[in-house]
Amino acid sequence: MPGFQFISRNEPVYLPFSRPKYKISMGLVALQLKDWIEADEYFYDELKEKKQLLISNYPEVFASRPGSLLAQTEVLALVLKHMEKYCPGVLKIEHDEVILPKLKWKFRISDFEESPLDLCGRFVQEDLCLMAPGPDGYTLEAASLCFPARWRLMDKMGLPMSAIHKPVPGYSEKLSRPVNSFFNRIDVDRPVWRVNWSLTTDPTMFQPVRQKHSASELPITSKNAGDQVYMRCERQTLRRLPNTGWILFTIKTYLDKVSKLNKYPKEAQNLSSLLRSAPTSLLSYKNINHVLEPLLIYLDELADHKV
Ligand code: HEM
Repeated sequence: MPGFQFISRNEPVYLPFSRPKYKISMGLVALQLKDWIEADEYFYDELKEKKQLLISNYPEVFASRPGSLLAQTEVLALVLKHMEKYCPGVLKIEHDEVILPKLKWKFRISDFEESPLDLCGRFVQEDLCLMAPGPDGYTLEAASLCFPARWRLMDKMGLPMSAIHKPVPGYSEKLSRPVNSFFNRIDVDRPVWRVNWSLTTDPTMFQPVRQKHSASELPITSKNAGDQVYMRCERQTLRRLPNTGWILFTIKTYLDKVSKLNKYPKEAQNLSSLLRSAPTSLLSYKNINHVLEPLLIYLDELADHKV
């Protein structure tokens, strides 16, 4: 019997550049439950990276607040059930153990009585954030977050959505109200997903620091931009937990060199025009300014099939 088919990473899995104009939006789409968790060909490598991060940087990559245990336990049960059903052979549950046969890893569930979400984050590529309803909107109550894109868990724990997104240009004016109202309406049976994108010259998955580019970095030119600049796309899902009513937010990170757009001239052209139409506050927030000029030349050449 053929084994489970991991998603190929030869081509970019998500290219959220279907429009030529930048517009901040929720961009939520209905999610089929069978597609909730994704596993691609970097699955085992990323699990190993998570394991190392949990050893070296635990307080940076896992946090939980009192009162979140029930929802954490609910997430663990749901994800285990999902993985058994939709990723057959990748994971086995035997008595008190979760086993990853390929890596010869065994986790004792009872070792994670205080932090079931931590265990859950160890056998999926996704980062997992648990949100609880509160008087000021949903707040972040627990997270397994090994692959943050320039934010720190400890800065956001306990905060409501509006405060979490304070640095995001346009969020408070355009997204805060619709997002809060949407969160109140998310149905157990109707999960959703969206894709977020950024560009970076640092292909590290674990990026807790909103650093500016470092002086030692190779200068970006229109010749090397394709290999030195990466698209960092986050495939995010939102799902209401049936028992506690809390919301689970998952983030699956995809990094691809911009040169991978060479087969997608339309998307290259759209990215170029949406970077041109984006407000400067957004380009600064996304830390793109220092690569913008050479990147635009590179993208325009790709769009004209010259590269
Ligand atoms: C419908 C749901 C959501 C929408 C529409 C949304 C939208 C956004 C947008 C537009 C950005 C800016 C990204 C960029 O331009 O690079 C952002 C950043 C961010 N989002 Fe969300 N988001 C949602 C849910 C969440 C949830 C549930 C969390 C919970 C942890 C979260 C945490 C963050 C964080 C930490 C950042 C980075 C903020 C910073 O720079 O300090 N988002 N989000």
